[in-house]
Amino acid sequence: RTLRIGLISGDGIGKEVIPAGRRILEALPASLGLKFEFVDLKAGWETFQEQGVALPDETVSILKSDCDGALFGAVSSPTTAVKGYSSPIVALRKKLDLYANVRPVKTVVSAPRPIDMVIVRENTEDLYVKEETTRDTPDGKVAEAVKRISQRASSRIATIAGEIALRRQKIRAAGSPSIHKGPLVTVTHKSNVLSQTDGLFRSTAREALAVPRFGEVAVEEQIVDSMVYKLFRQPEAYDVIVAPNLYGDILSDGAAALVGSLGLVPSANVGEGFAIGEPCHGSAPDIQGQGIANPIATLRSAALMLEFLNEEAAAAKIYAAVDANLEEGKLLSPDLGGTAKTEEVVQDILRRL
Ligand code: NAI
Ligand code: MG
Repeated sequence: RTLRIGLISGDGIGKEVIPAGRRILEALPASLGLKFEFVDLKAGWETFQEQGVALPDETVSILKSDCDGALFGAVSSPTTAVKGYSSPIVALRKKLDLYANVRPVKTVVSAPRPIDMVIVRENTEDLYVKEETTRDTPDGKVAEAVKRISQRASSRIATIAGEIALRRQKIRAAGSPSIHKGPLVTVTHKSNVLSQTDGLFRSTAREALAVPRFGEVAVEEQIVDSMVYKLFRQPEAYDVIVAPNLYGDILSDGAAALVGSLGLVPSANVGEGFAIGEPCHGSAPDIQGQGIANPIATLRSAALMLEFLNEEAAAAKIYAAVDANLEEGKLLSPDLGGTAKTEEVVQDILRRL
């Protein structure tokens, strides 16, 4: 099978880590029967300065018609609003209907407090439909926002969370060390207060996960505020967490803080038959050009993309090579307290692969 992968490096360290993502895909063993073709695509702040748009139409049309998946590095955003500029990743999620944002947060198994969870965030609705209004009243201004929750979006996000739980179990069963015994999905909401919106999310997610093919998956619920508490007190208790957009956004950034560096945390934006792997970090202007960016978030994002393209065996190989580098702890980049350059970390992981 040949996979065509769009490479959107973007700005800053995006240009340093995306080539590492390409190299790890190219280095996968031939026995997997996977080949890759790459196409470099533009987006971001530099692109905006050159072309007047942050996400050229060409990038979108090539991704749509010609690619199986993509890797997205990072883009710089101006600190004050600039006319005509809007975030290319947000636009891409909309244009390609990438309805799930998937963020695994994982330490090595031998960590004093091992963590291995994935947060599955609904990515198309909730308060982020951005339908806000402000009106004047005798008591001053009042602003309101729509929180939209649909059965369709809630059902498909819960379904993909169930699928992810099953796949994680499969990868574990294939010999990858883990702290979890069986697949577990935790449905997060605040339906005790928002009985209609979050109530619909809760009941729809429950139903979607109650079907026979998820029979093996344990399902539990957690109110979002106590979820935050437990996430920090007992992070090892979680396997797959599914949440509406706003809670998912907050939980996934909070969870990323549990593992020490943004340079370790991958994500994927997932739609029907398409996935974009994207490290969680930004363009890191403070370290750009020094060759010291941690490539691991991007390498894991490449693996995560492969998972959603149904190439689990290939993904598992990348995860294992990255974990072995971290377990040994000899060639670590400066964000992890080491002195290794990006290139040395990549070389070490390629050797293990
Ligand atoms: P950032 O994630 O770029 O950096 C935060 C801190 O983490 C910095 O000290 C940076 O050096 C460090 N860091 C991040 N990734 C690292 C890596 N791979 N290896 C080692 N250290 C790493 O966030 P910041 O500084 O708030 O934003 C910088 C620019 O990135 C801004 O223009 C912002 O708009 C943009 N940004 C873009 C994102 C995206 O493309 N998805 C996400 C977050 C920020
Ligand atoms: Mg966020």
